[in-house]
Amino acid sequence: MHQRYTKTAVSLHWLMAILIVAAFGLGLTMTDIPGITPTKLRYFSWHKWLGVTLLGLACLRLLWRLAHPAPAYPASMSAGQKTIASATHLLMYLLMFAVPVSGYFYTLAAGVPVVYLGLLPLPVLIEPNETLKPLLKGVHYWLNMLFLGAFILHVLGALKHLLWQRDGLFQRILP
Ligand code: HEM
Repeated sequence: MHQRYTKTAVSLHWLMAILIVAAFGLGLTMTDIPGITPTKLRYFSWHKWLGVTLLGLACLRLLWRLAHPAPAYPASMSAGQKTIASATHLLMYLLMFAVPVSGYFYTLAAGVPVVYLGLLPLPVLIEPNETLKPLLKGVHYWLNMLFLGAFILHVLGALKHLLWQRDGLFQRILP
C-alpha cells in the first residue's frame, strides 16, 4: 500500500477544493443580489460554468480513485475514527455529484438552458416545470448545506491530525 496519495489525486483534491469554495461563495453572493442586474446574470453564468466544470472533475476524480485506492489509515487511528473519516469522504463524493446535478436540473426546470462557457449548449434533459422548480431549488440549497457540514467535519478532522495527533496523515495530501 502506498504511503501518499498520487500526484493526480493531490492535484484534483486542491483544485476542486478551491473551485468548490468559489462556487459556494458565488452561489450565496449572487442569490443575495436583489432584482435582476447585469452583474447578477454574469455571476449566475460563472456559477453554472464552475459547477459544470466541477461535475466533470468529479467524474475524473471518481475514476482515478477507483483505480488508485487511498493510502491506509495509520494504525494509531481507532475503528470509530476510521469509520467517521470514511463516511465523511463517501458523503463528500456523493455530494460532488448531487450538488451540481441538482443545480443543473433546477436551471432546466426554470426554463434556462445551460450554455457551457457561453459556447457549448448542454443537453436539455427536462422541460421547464413550475412544480419541480421550487423543489429543485430547495434540494440544491439543502444539499449545499449538507456539503458545508461535511466540509467543516473534514477540515476539523484534518486539523486534528495535523496539530494534535501529528501522525503525518495531513502531509499525505500536501503537494
Ligand atoms: C459543486 C458545484 C456547486 C456548488 C458548490 C453550488 C453552490 C450553490 C450555492 C451555495 C447556492 C446558493 C443557494 C441559495 O442561497 O439559495 C447556489 C445557487 C444556485 N446554483 Fe449552484 N452550486 C453548484 C453547481 C451548480 C450548477 C452545475 C448549476 C447549474 C448549471 C447551478 C445553478 C445554481 C442556480 C441557478 C442557483 C440560484 C438558485 C436561486 O435561484 O436561488 N449550481 N449554488
